[in-house]
Amino acid sequence: MSAKRRITVIGGGIGGYTAAIRAARLGGEITLVEHAEIGGTCLNWGCIPFKLLLQSASVASTVNKAKEFGIKTGPPEVDYAALMARKNQVVAELRKGVKSLVKAKRIRLLVGSAELFNGNRVEVSAMKNGTASVEEIKSDRVIIATGSKPSSIPIPDLDKVQAQNSDDFLNSRTMPSSTIIIGGGVIGVELAQILNGLGGSVTILELQNQIIPGFDKEIADILESELKQQGVTIIKGVLISGAAMSKNKLKKIVAFDSDGKEQTISADEIVVAVGREPVMSGVSSEKLGLDLNNVPRKGIKVNCHMETNLPNVYAVGDVTGENMLAHVASAQAEVAAYNALRDEATRPMIMDYKSIPSCVYTSPEVAFVGLTEEQAMKKVDVEVGRFPFSASGKARLLGETGGMVKIIADKNYGEVLGVHIVGSRATDMIAEAVLGMNMEITIDELAHTVHPHPTLSEGVMEAALSLSGGAIHMP
Ligand code: NAI
Repeated sequence: MSAKRRITVIGGGIGGYTAAIRAARLGGEITLVEHAEIGGTCLNWGCIPFKLLLQSASVASTVNKAKEFGIKTGPPEVDYAALMARKNQVVAELRKGVKSLVKAKRIRLLVGSAELFNGNRVEVSAMKNGTASVEEIKSDRVIIATGSKPSSIPIPDLDKVQAQNSDDFLNSRTMPSSTIIIGGGVIGVELAQILNGLGGSVTILELQNQIIPGFDKEIADILESELKQQGVTIIKGVLISGAAMSKNKLKKIVAFDSDGKEQTISADEIVVAVGREPVMSGVSSEKLGLDLNNVPRKGIKVNCHMETNLPNVYAVGDVTGENMLAHVASAQAEVAAYNALRDEATRPMIMDYKSIPSCVYTSPEVAFVGLTEEQAMKKVDVEVGRFPFSASGKARLLGETGGMVKIIADKNYGEVLGVHIVGSRATDMIAEAVLGMNMEITIDELAHTVHPHPTLSEGVMEAALSLSGGAIHMP
């Protein structure tokens, strides 16, 4: 590694700070520029606060069903202000933690807005004691990690009813008693789970004929029926035509077409969750001649080394528009940092998207890695193993019997092509499938790996066994 190669990282989210820390560990001299909060979307407005609120909803639901476990309680009462205060406190603590990691690695953290001129020059504008200043940072490599923001949709008059996005929701001081969520993707269903779990009434309006599009349809349908059982209303295949305030100005109304019929519904609040788009602040693609992806999100185009078309400029995370997930951003950051610091004579590190897990933190949770059944069938002859959690001893004692494990394998060679879990703790259990698929595991190897008892993870083994001699706990 070249000692003291100078690296400037633009953006201090999980992609940016991971790149900065890795590059510092590899011996670089690092400047990290951030104009808002360190930790970016994941820590401040995404993964962490959402999962924290989901945990509160889960506590409320556990109290609600305490009687089933032989525990008498009264009904839970939601203290929304306390719940939001806990969210703010945990986020602040984690932010402090990231700042101390950055400091420990002697990374120069600059608070200000960066503008990229080329791979060797960035300018940072900042306000210090009421005075504006501009500092020129010279470096050998630049890593862009400017993240993403919630997308909006052109629905007539949606702006007039002041619909929220996920950022607005996280800043709200009161909980709406009824909410319409536009978009039944990952954010939509997690938000629905939070609000429904805390006692609100929720309707999801989804454009497609499946919630969480991109997930295996059978698995998505199980989540849908679980959410409906919990009281969430889900309307799919909708075309939203407009929004308005009610006559008394107390309710927000959405008009939509479903099954060829015009309908309206009203609620206290509307939250739009129709995807996210890259943020290119301080990076003018036209001025710089920076190549962008054509579809679907127009992020910065990168190769498998995380290099852009500009010399010495790398990009990582949501700004690349690729698989906008926190764990993808940090994996890309590792690759970019290594390649930015490597000696020219060594081989570059490659970003491998083969086994990236996708997770939804609803109750039940959903997680998958690899191909869906529909995708696999287009490539090879497949066989599908399933194991329902209703047949798992651990699921029974937890009172979490909803869902199943579904494994898709190549019928001829036995290679595991996809693992899909809907059920309690699916997001933790998927890690073994990720490791297995990374190592090109076969269905027999997975089936004959000894799993601890009693655990939910036995469901993965049993689903594999169903294609390898037969499951034990299934007739
Ligand atoms: P998404 O792409 O997951 O889902 C957006 C949904 O909105 C889709 O189901 C789409 O069909 C629907 N939609 C689009 N236009 C619509 C319209 N006009 N009317 C009704 N429905 C419409 O995007 P989401 O949920 O906003 O999440 C954004 C990003 O954040 C994603 O890339 C996601 O991967 C990431 N994320 C990941 C999480 C996780 O891993 N658990 C949690 C939260 C976000």
